[in-house]
Amino acid sequence: MTGTPDTTHRQTTTSHPDRPVGPVTERATAGFSTEYGGERPAGVWAAPGRVNLIGEHTDYNDGFVLPFALPQRTVVAAAPERGRRWTVWSEQAGARISFGRADAAEPGRVTGWGAYVAGVVWALREAGHDVPVARLAIASDVPLGAGLSSSAALESAVLTALADLGELDLPLADRPALAQRAENDYAGVPCGIMDQSASLRCRPGHALFLDCRTLAVEQVPFDLDAAGLAILVIDSNAPHRHAGGEYAARRAACESAAAALGVPALRDVTVDRLDAALAQLDDETVRRRVRHVVTENQRVLETVELLHAGRLAEIGPLLTASHASMRDDFEITVPEVDTAVETALTAGAYGARMTGGGFGGCVLALVDAAAAETVASTVAESYARRGFRAPSSFTVTPGGGAERIG
Ligand code: GLA
Repeated sequence: MTGTPDTTHRQTTTSHPDRPVGPVTERATAGFSTEYGGERPAGVWAAPGRVNLIGEHTDYNDGFVLPFALPQRTVVAAAPERGRRWTVWSEQAGARISFGRADAAEPGRVTGWGAYVAGVVWALREAGHDVPVARLAIASDVPLGAGLSSSAALESAVLTALADLGELDLPLADRPALAQRAENDYAGVPCGIMDQSASLRCRPGHALFLDCRTLAVEQVPFDLDAAGLAILVIDSNAPHRHAGGEYAARRAACESAAAALGVPALRDVTVDRLDAALAQLDDETVRRRVRHVVTENQRVLETVELLHAGRLAEIGPLLTASHASMRDDFEITVPEVDTAVETALTAGAYGARMTGGGFGGCVLALVDAAAAETVASTVAESYARRGFRAPSSFTVTPGGGAERIG
């Protein structure tokens, strides 16, 4: 990084506990005071991670997704700053960075976790907003690197904080695309729009049915408690293997298949036209990629119908079929997640699937609420037998999207 001190992104290491102590909101607020000379923040904002119930690798194909927000959130305590540099402390990183307008004007100047913050400033400014300079302190309960969208939670919390502090005229429906731009064009990660939409637009007790082409959303009631059910999230703790490169490769394969089929995106191939489309493609791998996306879109639509009908347990086979499709056709699973799915099913889950981009990360299992602990311990036992790193499990109910909390 080059430039005068005024335009250089600086980093200072600060102390951070190995295991954060206390509620996340208090940690962000206390961190703010410690880092910024005993001051109080002007406000506190929070945005959640997500699990995707179904609809994987469909978002960048203009398709359908059905995520819901986690109760775990990233919290930003912030105050406007009279100077010219944004200063950001992160509990997880144990570091404080600062960056000026020039850094925020040029993707690549701020790197690492700070890129997700500077990227939001950049995307807002690119969209013509007068972004307030601010001091921020960030703490999070969203597990990192587990496929639960910790980066979208960070972008969404920062975006919501800056939009409020600056009283920016920014409708909720326009916010996910800006957060996605921060990630795509500043941080350089070619993700779709699902995670940012979930973090910003989800509502408690609902899954978010999103049409990634029109960006129309429908809040679909998903009351697990009333049905005596639970979603068990099992973090495979598998190391991510080449996730970035493989994600980009899947995306490229889908885009080239759409071009070969003469459609704007694979969303335009429906299940009844799948065989005809497959017959037009020479490459067996590409055919399997297309089959995953087309059948996955259909599974999302069927899941939404079942949820509307209140037939929650019946979505189980769709979840399991989604997993098989990711394993066999899209080839994005790893032995740890396959084992978690198989074991959860053997232990009585109605359905189970990997959630998120793949190559590690989490599995979700739909279980009777009373069976959640047994399923979790059965998976842990089967991991131990295979010599895998121990998984971690927790149950979740759908939470709300980004908001001001203080
Ligand atoms: C990651 C990306 C999302 C989406 C999923 C796969 O989470 O950030 O945009 O593509 O993978 O469904």
